[in-house]
Amino acid sequence: MATAFSVRMLLFSSLFLLPISVFSQNNGRVAVGSSITATTGNSSSWLSPSGDFAFGFLPLGGNDLFLLSIWYAKIPDKTVVWHAYEDNNPIVAPEGSTLNLDASSGLVLNNPQGGEIWKSATFGVVANGVMNDTGNFVLQDKNSGSLWETFNNPTDTILPGQTIERNGKLSSKQSESNYAKGWFQLRLQGDGNLVLNTINLPTDFANEPYFATDTTAGTVEGSEGKQLVFNNSGDLFVLRENGGRFILTTAKGVSARENYLRATLDFDGIFALYAHPKTFTGNASWSSPLWYQPVDICQTLLEGAGVGVCGYNSICKLKPDNRPTCECPKGFTFLDPKDLYRGCKPDFIQGCKEDELASPRQDLYDVEVLINTDWPTSDYVQLKPFTADKCNESCFHDCLCAVAVFRSETCWKKKLPLSNGRVDVTLNSQTFIKVRKDNMLENQF
Ligand SMILES: *[C@@H]1O[C@H](CO)[C@@H](O)[C@H](O)[C@H]1NC(C)=O
Ligand SMILES: *[C@@H]1O[C@H](CO)[C@@H](O)[C@H](O)[C@H]1NC(C)=O
Ligand SMILES: *[C@@H]1O[C@H](CO)[C@@H](O)[C@H](O)[C@H]1NC(C)=O
Ligand SMILES: *[C@@H]1O[C@H](CO)[C@@H](O)[C@H](O)[C@H]1NC(C)=O
Ligand SMILES: *[C@@H]1O[C@H](CO)[C@@H](O)[C@H](O)[C@H]1NC(C)=O
Repeated sequence: MATAFSVRMLLFSSLFLLPISVFSQNNGRVAVGSSITATTGNSSSWLSPSGDFAFGFLPLGGNDLFLLSIWYAKIPDKTVVWHAYEDNNPIVAPEGSTLNLDASSGLVLNNPQGGEIWKSATFGVVANGVMNDTGNFVLQDKNSGSLWETFNNPTDTILPGQTIERNGKLSSKQSESNYAKGWFQLRLQGDGNLVLNTINLPTDFANEPYFATDTTAGTVEGSEGKQLVFNNSGDLFVLRENGGRFILTTAKGVSARENYLRATLDFDGIFALYAHPKTFTGNASWSSPLWYQPVDICQTLLEGAGVGVCGYNSICKLKPDNRPTCECPKGFTFLDPKDLYRGCKPDFIQGCKEDELASPRQDLYDVEVLINTDWPTSDYVQLKPFTADKCNESCFHDCLCAVAVFRSETCWKKKLPLSNGRVDVTLNSQTFIKVRKDNMLENQF
């Protein structure tokens, strides 16, 4: 398949040019042979009967590229609830691309030169498509049986009426405006446990869960999870094999009739339930979450083989709204200044060779002191009993030591890169960070 436009790591502007949608009465049916074209200002789309959802080309601001997706068509914030993807990449089409509904191939997306960008997998002969009012786009056979549907190929969002079966998953985006697959997953595992975990991109290797319902077989027969259900009243639960329910949340009195509801695994790893009024005058926007998990991702996400919420060498902190944000310690800067979740890099070279080359030895480093900040998975040695002063000194004179943490008579010396950094006010600890006074690179030349 042509991948010229499924550009890896492409950063999209979050400013959507709003397509002019022509609302007309329709039954949501899309006949075989129908097509829509990606056009600035007048992109065609297929609307659900109520006009609530549109399927088609959503312009990605400023670069003549369009995301093949489903979005809320009646509200200013055209939040994407599904997009086409292949492996880790969103399906993005240049202006003039055409999506056709074909009886034998299903949906087929071609670029303006006629090259195939993407097609839906279908097994059987398509009679028609339906853009359903639930937000599900379905390819049906002549008996109205489903051959393919977007609800069975979810991205980061689940909608009322949608279920996720065992071994199904949601994947976060990489950032607010980058639709490539990100680091976080919501999975209903084969054993029935619903978990949130990170993966070590570019592989799918899953780290230990940072949230789990523990809906496994356990001691009661049939208690393992069968499906994650988001039902039409907006209740979100794991349906057990024996019919029991593990309720994640209700819609908290918010009417699913009067509001759009969605549960999204956000790019920062939080799985949250949101509402937006269907009818409104003046401003309306997505509510702050009606519910979310985990409550403190900086503390609960701790991986032996992963890097944490914020990437290497960074510090995860909760904002007042309990969303994580990331900071770099002094002497470190963001790897990508536009994406604070990708980690920090030291602004200096540290290592034994560098220390040897420089002189006088004593003046090489400043020591920054932080309180209650830890990188719990980066230790290489533990010294006990010790004092805070000796801890600092020991790290200072050890050319392999980047950071030392002292707490309850114990000194942990740590090496770069630092992972799973966070602030934990219960620690009552001191952290000594070695920061180079001058830039080694400048000294050498
Ligand atoms: C959009 O384009 C289609 C096909 O070119 C045309 O029929 C339609 O009138 C256009 N609509 C608007 C609002 O410009
Ligand atoms: C289509 O939407 C209706 C409600 O509008 C719902 O009852 C039905 O299950 C949906 N069908 C599919 C295939 O999603
Ligand atoms: C949704 O689930 C809740 C909790 O299990 C239940 O009380 C409610 O009746 C369900 N709603 C629908 C429409 O099935
Ligand atoms: C509506 O939105 C505009 C622009 O975002 C903002 O300036 C204004 O304060 C909002 N009004 C209300 C009532 O929220
Ligand atoms: C850490 O040790 C170094 C080297 O002896 C010293 O210069 C620095 O002041 C100490 N810092 C703290 C906070 O103890």
